[in-house]
Amino acid sequence: MKCPQCQHENRPQAKFCEECATMLARTCAGCGARLSAEAKFCPQCARPVAESAARQPRFGSPDAYTPKHLAEKILTSRSALEGERKQVTVLFCDIVESTGLAERLDPESMHELMDKTLRLMAEAVHRYQGTVNQSIVITEATYRLVEGYVRSEPLGTVQVKGHSDPVNAHRVTGRRAPRTRLELGAERGLTPLVGRERELELLRDRLAEAKAGHGQVVGIMGEPGAGKSRLLYEFRKGLEGERLTWLAGHCVSYGQATPYLPLLEILRVNFQIEDEDNPLQIGEKFRQGVRQLDPALEATLPLLRELFGLPIEDERLRQMDAKDKRQKTFEAVRALTLAGSQRRPLVVIVEDLHWIDQSSEEYLTFLIDTLAGMSVLLLLSYRPGYVVRSADKTYYTRIALDLLTESEAESMVATLLGGQQLPTDLLPIIWQKAEGNPLFVEEVTRSLWERGLLTRTDGEIRWARNAVVELPMTVQDIIRARIDGLEEPVKRTVQTAAVIGREFGHRLLERISEMAAEVQHYVETLKDLELIHEKRFFPELEYIFKHAVTQDVAYQSLLSQRRKEIHGIIGEAIEELYADRLDEQVTILAYHYARSDRQEKAVEFAIRAGDRAARFSANAEATTFYEQALRILGDLATSTRRDELHVDATIKLASVATTRQHFERDLTNLDAAHAIARRLDDRRRTAQALYWIARTHYVRGNLNDAIQFAEQSLALGDALGDDDLVVWPMNLTGRICTVVGDYVKATSMLQRCVPLFEQMGNLNELATASGILGVVLAATGEFPEALKFSEQGVRIALEIQNLPAEAAAYYYRAIVYERKGEWATVVEDCRAGLEVSQRIPDPFRTYVLTCLLGYGLFRLGQEPQGLETLQHGIKLAEELGTTYLLAWGVTWLCDAYLAQRNWDAALACASRALGLVTTGPDVYGEGLASRCYGEALGQSDPARLEEAEAHIRRAIALQEDKAMKPQLARSYAACARLLQVRGKGDEACEYLDKARTLFRDLGMEWDQQRLAET
Ligand SMILES: Nc1ncnc2c1ncn2[C@@H]1O[C@H](COP(=O)(O)OP(=O)(O)OP(=O)(O)O)[C@@H](O)[C@H]1O
Ligand SMILES: [Mg+2]
Repeated sequence: MKCPQCQHENRPQAKFCEECATMLARTCAGCGARLSAEAKFCPQCARPVAESAARQPRFGSPDAYTPKHLAEKILTSRSALEGERKQVTVLFCDIVESTGLAERLDPESMHELMDKTLRLMAEAVHRYQGTVNQSIVITEATYRLVEGYVRSEPLGTVQVKGHSDPVNAHRVTGRRAPRTRLELGAERGLTPLVGRERELELLRDRLAEAKAGHGQVVGIMGEPGAGKSRLLYEFRKGLEGERLTWLAGHCVSYGQATPYLPLLEILRVNFQIEDEDNPLQIGEKFRQGVRQLDPALEATLPLLRELFGLPIEDERLRQMDAKDKRQKTFEAVRALTLAGSQRRPLVVIVEDLHWIDQSSEEYLTFLIDTLAGMSVLLLLSYRPGYVVRSADKTYYTRIALDLLTESEAESMVATLLGGQQLPTDLLPIIWQKAEGNPLFVEEVTRSLWERGLLTRTDGEIRWARNAVVELPMTVQDIIRARIDGLEEPVKRTVQTAAVIGREFGHRLLERISEMAAEVQHYVETLKDLELIHEKRFFPELEYIFKHAVTQDVAYQSLLSQRRKEIHGIIGEAIEELYADRLDEQVTILAYHYARSDRQEKAVEFAIRAGDRAARFSANAEATTFYEQALRILGDLATSTRRDELHVDATIKLASVATTRQHFERDLTNLDAAHAIARRLDDRRRTAQALYWIARTHYVRGNLNDAIQFAEQSLALGDALGDDDLVVWPMNLTGRICTVVGDYVKATSMLQRCVPLFEQMGNLNELATASGILGVVLAATGEFPEALKFSEQGVRIALEIQNLPAEAAAYYYRAIVYERKGEWATVVEDCRAGLEVSQRIPDPFRTYVLTCLLGYGLFRLGQEPQGLETLQHGIKLAEELGTTYLLAWGVTWLCDAYLAQRNWDAALACASRALGLVTTGPDVYGEGLASRCYGEALGQSDPARLEEAEAHIRRAIALQEDKAMKPQLARSYAACARLLQVRGKGDEACEYLDKARTLFRDLGMEWDQQRLAET
């Protein structure tokens, strides 16, 4: 056994350390029995053993100035040893002129004096009350909590030592008579009552019975703030003026150790005893009161005096044994009650029984037993968890007070805010915090008002939407006090559960609990108190905190270090419990580990949670997780593992980017990641980073940069001989080559990618790569092959039910048909693609598909509709702010105007197209723009025929160079038409021939036919 003091290793049996004589053995704080090192409970008396013997209280022994029961409670309560967050009342005292006193007095006398003073103060604290003869200054926050219970005057702002800003202060000048929260509320003005008609009706019904001599008991049960006191208040108010005697007593949280507390209050009211009455006056009031009631009851007088601590004159009573005296007291009070009820029907209210002292509780049971024949209505109120002992009587009725419905809460908020139209989305905010608890509704609304988050301008309520709505202190306090009042293990259970979340599974709670065997029992207690409910039984038992705020407050009450520990423990437990289906838990694990000390786990699961979200195309969520991972990594100590994870997370983050801001952020991040990967000499990660840099350049439209980086990545991947690595830059290069018109390279790249994607089972990329390969092959006129791949693209996209891939695949196939001049199929595919792209919605795909649909319709002969659709498509691009592929749409529009002989409009379009192709690499578009500009110019300006011809020849040169056969054939035809106009008949025939032959070879029937017509 290791000595906690000097760390010396002693023999197992040692009671004291051989080195330093520190006591080693653990003993039970209850019965003193010896405990084994592992014991969680005492084997003699079953008392729980404070968790760790090594954990010593931070301060000196508490028993010097603390009563034994409290000291024990402190020593066995882990919360007290570890500390927790809660609101406390601190008694601060000082001895007048203590320094002077110390100079004059002998040290021993001074010690004696101090000791005595401390004891006196401690006593006051332990009784929860104190006397004050000095000034108390409190801050605004404290003022809010005690306002109404004390007399005070505002001091304005004062500078407080240790606070940088002046604070609002109040001076407490005295104590006010004890009052209930509702009495205070009534003074300020109560919120008009909502609902509760049924409950009031029931109370009136029971009163009628009582009046008829059939005594009744009604127990009103409800959580704090549900409106128990308010219901009683409304009931009484509704009966004002009726011939009834009302007597009310309250139990208080600190009154459980004060015998007969509520009874004394009732008697005080009954005999009209005032605070300032002296014993003589009280005695006199008793005598007169009893005589008035019934002179035969004079025998009760000594018992009443005894109850109120007045000097006992009756010798017999002084001799009487305690049990007899108690019985006699019960009988006396009941006799008074009966006598009173015979004069006028009596309504006795005892509120807050959950705090009742034992004597009063026993008296109530005694009274209820014989109540049936009295004209008495006994009304009791209590919170969930309390059990009324006589609830089995036929004349007992229980009212369970429900919380308000959402519309009731709304009408409460509306009246609280002066009966005005509420800003939309204010109610959800209040509801989220208050959840139908009337008190919480009042407090939350009031605090929004006081914190200036709600304002009234010109009679209209406005609300600072983005403000963080905190739970008001008053509400937190009520909940905190409730949690604080729980027995230690129950409290720890509720705190632990709160760390899991608003909802928590039984299995998990049990797993992480220190006292697993007892958890069931503690959870039952929490259920009885209605702090939690069962939420689900299948597939496993789950609970939910009835109010989110309870979870919040329980969570906040833990020290942050302890919270971290529990989060870590929860993470581990989840990993164990759900080892076989961890993927479903990664989000939760990321959450818990992020709040624990286990930062590496936090990174691991944040990345996994991001991967999971990305798999479901939830890019925003994935972004959040990857960013979270990077943030945590930033705080970790440097290590190779950290660097690797950093590179991975950066790449993953880039892979889910969707906005321009994302791309800019990613370029910076990826540059850094690339540098890290190189420093690590990690070629795989270097290749990956390079690819993602290329990819980010590509989506931003920097094709030259993109191709450069893609080639670097490809070279590295090839050197490593890793297909999984090379397929990406290859695919990207294929796409870029498509755009810049390098069809040979594009084809070879994409033709390598297609089988690789197939091999990898990456159907998504396979669909896209096939589609693009189709487009490339169509550009050079290899239609059978082009159709094969574009059809494969559509088939796979449909198979995997990936909507973006589906819309794209239809578009690629439509392009193939456009090249070939099969307009009906173009229209069909565009319509199918649009249906999907609008559903996603994917605005880019919608724009390109709309343009092509318009062109297809126009060529099919539906000219007005086609033109309109084309124009609409171009407008969509403008709205989207993109110019990508826009030159195509604009040249199609130009073609349409040419067909309609609208030369000016055609020329305008052609100029625009020429302008567009200078802004970005689009070789295909360049050819289209050049040709249609030549055609439009030739038609609209006979003086510029030569210039027009030059443009068409430029298109031809380009298209010959890139082997874009279908468009080349169309350019030959255009050239022939222009040469004809210029009177170069022979040359025109030559071009006509070239066009005809190509159209025929390529199988472009529509173009052949059109050529024949002209
Ligand atoms: N039906 C209601 N309509 C309007 N206001 C209500 C209603 N019920 C309760 N309130 C208001 O909510 C606040 C809390 O009610 P009340 O004091 O009666 O709660 P309680 O159940 O007695 O709580 P506790 O257990 O803490 O004593 C009071 O200000 C009360 O006026
Ligand atoms: Mg109450």
